[in-house]
Amino acid sequence: MLYLYTLDQPERYLHLLRQTLPDEAVACWPQEVDAAAVTHAAAWAPPAGFFARFPNLHTVFVMGAGVDKLLQRTDVPDNVTLIRLTDAGMAQQMTEYCLYGVLHYQRQMDRYARQQQERLWNPLDTRLARDVRVGILGLGELGGKVALDLARLGYRVAGWSRRPRQLEGVRCLHGEAGLRELLPQTDVLFCVLPSTPETRHVLDAETLALLPADAALINAGRGSLIDEAALLARLDAGALRFALLDVFAEEPLPPTHPFWNHPRVIITPHVAADTVPEDAVQQIAANLHAQAAGLPLNGVVDRDCGY
Ligand code: NAP
Ligand code: GLV
Repeated sequence: MLYLYTLDQPERYLHLLRQTLPDEAVACWPQEVDAAAVTHAAAWAPPAGFFARFPNLHTVFVMGAGVDKLLQRTDVPDNVTLIRLTDAGMAQQMTEYCLYGVLHYQRQMDRYARQQQERLWNPLDTRLARDVRVGILGLGELGGKVALDLARLGYRVAGWSRRPRQLEGVRCLHGEAGLRELLPQTDVLFCVLPSTPETRHVLDAETLALLPADAALINAGRGSLIDEAALLARLDAGALRFALLDVFAEEPLPPTHPFWNHPRVIITPHVAADTVPEDAVQQIAANLHAQAAGLPLNGVVDRDCGY
């Protein structure tokens, strides 16, 4: 049996799962079921202890791309296979989110907004896409597509990953040295890394200082990627033009957080790329069929790497 837990549109997911998997028994929280019959779960952020009630659970489908919260839990035994969503409609949304920030920078919308406050009619210099250097941290399912899309739009795109990558029209860098090479040559930095012990505070006071003065930062990965105090210090000093932030160390962002009122910060509430139910269910179904047929699975989480 596949047991579903989500607070986001549970009826819709249940309907889609039953429609797509007519031969599979599917139940949805809080329905009471025979816990021993549950072999698979499809879940996003269930309460602590949720998975422990199913003694025969062997696969968890994560209904999102990031698995950081899941890997911190103590109720998922090591022998359970974790499968996350790969793209599933999120990559296009990430491109849109990144492009919004890049255009804000390139077309100087932050400056025009300030000029408007002063009723100032002052055309600023035009900057072409080919003169805007976009750096992308994370070249996986999401960052890889963003990088390719922006390169096709004519931006000068470089990206950074853990292992060497090759993407058409994208300068690909990796490892510690790659990051240090990328940052000083970046006008708009887009972060879409997973949260792992290695990526925690990858942007701290030292690495943020490698960005050129006047650069902009977009974070749609996880809040843990950035030392928020260091970012605030850079913004306060006017050393970064603006930060477009979708993810935070603490979510929801506490009402007293200085980001809320900061003139150089734009906040969105973790909406850069939402899970698309139809696409998610198609991926879950494809993996269930592949698993039953003994075929390779898509999106298996590497617990050692943390993503
Ligand atoms: P992915 O396919 O696993 O790609 C992760 C990328 O990060 C890979 O390129 C990987 O390098 C790179 N990476 C991981 N650890 C690294 C390290 N220590 N140093 C350098 N690069 C490293 O993940 P994805 O599907 O693209 O998703 C990325 C993240 O986006 C998720 O984990 C989640 O946190 C976030 N997300 C946010 C939202 C939102 O709405 N804000 C929505 C969806 C996802 P390799 O290529 O070498 O493996
Ligand atoms: C959302 O943040 C996700 O990881 O899917």
